[in-house]
Amino acid sequence: MATWSNFNFQNSASPLMEQIIFFHDHTLIILIITTILVSYLMMSLFFNKYINRFLMESQMIELIWTILPAITLIFIALPSLRLLYLLDELNNPLITLKSIGHQWYWSYEYSDFNNVEFDSYMIQFENNNNFRLLDVDNRIVLPMNNQIRILITATDVIHSWTVPSLGVKVDANPGRLNQTSFFINRPGIFFGQCSEICGANHSFMPIVIESISIKNFINWINNYS
Ligand code: CUA
Repeated sequence: MATWSNFNFQNSASPLMEQIIFFHDHTLIILIITTILVSYLMMSLFFNKYINRFLMESQMIELIWTILPAITLIFIALPSLRLLYLLDELNNPLITLKSIGHQWYWSYEYSDFNNVEFDSYMIQFENNNNFRLLDVDNRIVLPMNNQIRILITATDVIHSWTVPSLGVKVDANPGRLNQTSFFINRPGIFFGQCSEICGANHSFMPIVIESISIKNFINWINNYS
């Protein structure tokens, strides 16, 4: 989970988030190189005394500074496109979770099983025993090392089901059903928050996922009352 003054991504808990972090680092390096190069060129333009009264144009340098940025952009565009299609892919999900946004809480349905559905409200922070502003009364339980499909919708206004460590951020629209999928590759508790400004208590509808082994998941779903 995110802790105080963390300026980086949270640790990834899914292969897709790992890819997103790789792409971010790759793009950031290109950005830093470009910034350094351009600053150096601007500095050396200011601090020199080379003067050429007859220089009005130069086809060659214009050709170079048009083509160079174009090539640089391709190096960002192609990996970006690859990532976009990877994120959109559904690979035979084992289970489906439906999450419904409300003002101001989430509710969940495990449609593969009989009547497993519950509301998930934020709970009060008490004696350092839970996570302040991030914990809920009923957590999502999901099996790790399995492809999971998630269907996202809302009943009132637009919400957004966002869990950074899984690389998921999908809007919950009333009257629409959005779909995405992810693969949790380790056990743990993963936190998310709504990320569409959905009203007065927008900040108070967190998402909590407990990632456990498939054996324990089956046990949980069997004993669900
Ligand atoms: Cu729901 Cu912001």
